[in-house]
Amino acid sequence: MNRHTKFSGIQPRDHFWVEIYHLMNSIVQPRPIAWISSISPKGIVNLAPFSYFNICSMNPPIISNSIFFNRDGSEKDTLKNIKATKKYVVGAVSFKAAEKANISSAPFDSDVNEFKEAKVNAIDRSPGEPPFISESPVQLVCELNQTLPLGKGAGVGTLVLGNVTEIFLSNELKDYEWQKGIPPEVMNNVGRMGGDFYAKTTDVFQLARATVNK
Ligand SMILES: Cc1cc2nc3c(=O)[nH]c(=O)nc-3n(C[C@H](O)[C@H](O)[C@H](O)COP(=O)(O)O)c2cc1C
Repeated sequence: MNRHTKFSGIQPRDHFWVEIYHLMNSIVQPRPIAWISSISPKGIVNLAPFSYFNICSMNPPIISNSIFFNRDGSEKDTLKNIKATKKYVVGAVSFKAAEKANISSAPFDSDVNEFKEAKVNAIDRSPGEPPFISESPVQLVCELNQTLPLGKGAGVGTLVLGNVTEIFLSNELKDYEWQKGIPPEVMNNVGRMGGDFYAKTTDVFQLARATVNK
C-alpha cells in the first residue's frame, strides 16, 4: 500500500479563512462567471459577477451561485435583491467584456447602478424586471428556487438556486443550431482563476466521451 508521505495537510479551522479562500480559489479553477443583473424593490438595478457558479440540474434547468456576506457581515445587494424580488438575469462574461465585469464587482453603494459605472448597456424589459446585459450574447432569466444560508458573517456563503425559466440568445447567434450548443470560440467566455488571474477559453481540445467495451 502507498502511504501519503508526499503530502502535508492543512486544517482550515487552524487558519484565517482568507488564507483558505486564496488556496481554494487557486485549486477550484477555472470557474465560470455568472454576470448577475438584479433589481431592488425600489427599482434600483444592480450588476455584479459571481464565480461560485454552476449548473446543478437540467430537467428543469437549475443553476447555483454562492453569494458571500460582505467582509463587514452585511448582505450583498445581489442577494438582497434576489431574496426580495425572486428574479434575476444571468449573463456570460466573454473576454471582450471581462474588464467591464470586473468594474461591476467594485463595492459600490446600494443606490449606485453598476451598469452605468461599468458602462454596460442595460436593456430594459417590463417595469420591475431586471434588465438584460447587452455585453452578454445570452441571458438566462431566473426565478429564485431557494436560498440555503450556510452560516452568517464574513467568509460565509449563501447558496442561491435559480430555475432558468427562459433563455434568450442574441441575434448574433442566429446562425448556430443552439440545440447542439454554441461553439466555444463564439461564446469566448473567460474563467476565474486564483488571485487576479483569469483564463481565456481559446485553447480548447476535444475528447470523445469514454465508453466501456462489453
Ligand atoms: C470575477 C469575479 C467573481 C466573483 N465571484 C464572487 C462569488 O462567487 N461570490 C461572491 O460573493 N462574490 C464574488 N465576487 C465579488 C462580487 O462581485 C462583489 O462583492 C460585488 O461588489 C457584489 O456586488 P453587489 O453588492 O452589488 O451584489 C466576484 C468578483 C469578481 C471580480
